[in-house]
Amino acid sequence: MAKVLVVTSGKGGVGKTTSTAALGAALAQMGQNVVVIDFDVGLRNLDLVMGAERRVVFDLINVVQGVAKLPQALIRDKRLENLWLLPASQTRDKDALTEEGVKRVIADLKTKFDWILCDSPAGIERGATLAMRYADEAIIVTNPEVSSVRDSDRIIGMLDSKTARAERGERVEKHLLVTRYDAGRAARGEMLSIDDILEILATPLLGIVPESQDVLRASNVGCPVTLNASGSAPAKAYTDAVRRLMGEAVDMVVPVERKGLMDRLLRRRAA
Ligand SMILES: Nc1ncnc2c1ncn2[C@@H]1O[C@H](COP(=O)(O)OP(=O)(O)O)[C@@H](O)[C@H]1O
Ligand SMILES: [Mg+2]
Repeated sequence: MAKVLVVTSGKGGVGKTTSTAALGAALAQMGQNVVVIDFDVGLRNLDLVMGAERRVVFDLINVVQGVAKLPQALIRDKRLENLWLLPASQTRDKDALTEEGVKRVIADLKTKFDWILCDSPAGIERGATLAMRYADEAIIVTNPEVSSVRDSDRIIGMLDSKTARAERGERVEKHLLVTRYDAGRAARGEMLSIDDILEILATPLLGIVPESQDVLRASNVGCPVTLNASGSAPAKAYTDAVRRLMGEAVDMVVPVERKGLMDRLLRRRAA
């Protein structure tokens, strides 16, 4: 059975698009048929992070409006043959996306893919509501800071009230993904701890992705970090998250600060 997963957060810039690309690629690496959909109408970011921006011809709105057929708009990843992208449109008319249209496209995708990952725009308005509307499960992306956690709390409320599942009296299964986690800053009390976040949001933890230059490098070359630097700490965190999504029991490791050699030498000398 195909699963529809929304990657959402409320706040912008927390790592939704990065996570959609990384999780989608990791799922595809495990042999699953995956499509990632960019719901961020007007901004269009997912195609960049996936390195497909020059190959966009038709988009989600074209398909919703019947201007293009789904196979014309789907872009196959150059690295993984079972990973596909349905890009967003750069149009300013955000109302071009209709609930009925999205429902139809998702129903169609469900006959072709195992996983449908919806990359949500920021905010709690129409775009974010449409992205989560037909989700079976949700990944709530949060950074360890108060404003991000507060917005996530609002999104959790929306998942429980504004989704098609909620209206049918069913649950949308929720997973919390903490991203841009900086162990050093957490240790110094400059960021919320994982325990603080879990206490506020009371949502099962799917993973903790450390703040890392590997993510920026991957993004700059248009390749999901799980493919571009598969041995890196963030890639491992995303891969573990995917294994948990698929039902495996994987131990959760809270990243700890790894002091550099110079740091330790200087400290020893100072002591
Ligand atoms: N783990 C991470 N480490 C470092 N930078 C990150 C990490 N995750 C995301 N970023 C960066 O944060 C910025 C916002 O990420 P993005 O995925 O576009 O967020 P959103 O889709 O929620 O707006 C991007 O520049 C991205 O490269
Ligand atoms: Mg985004």
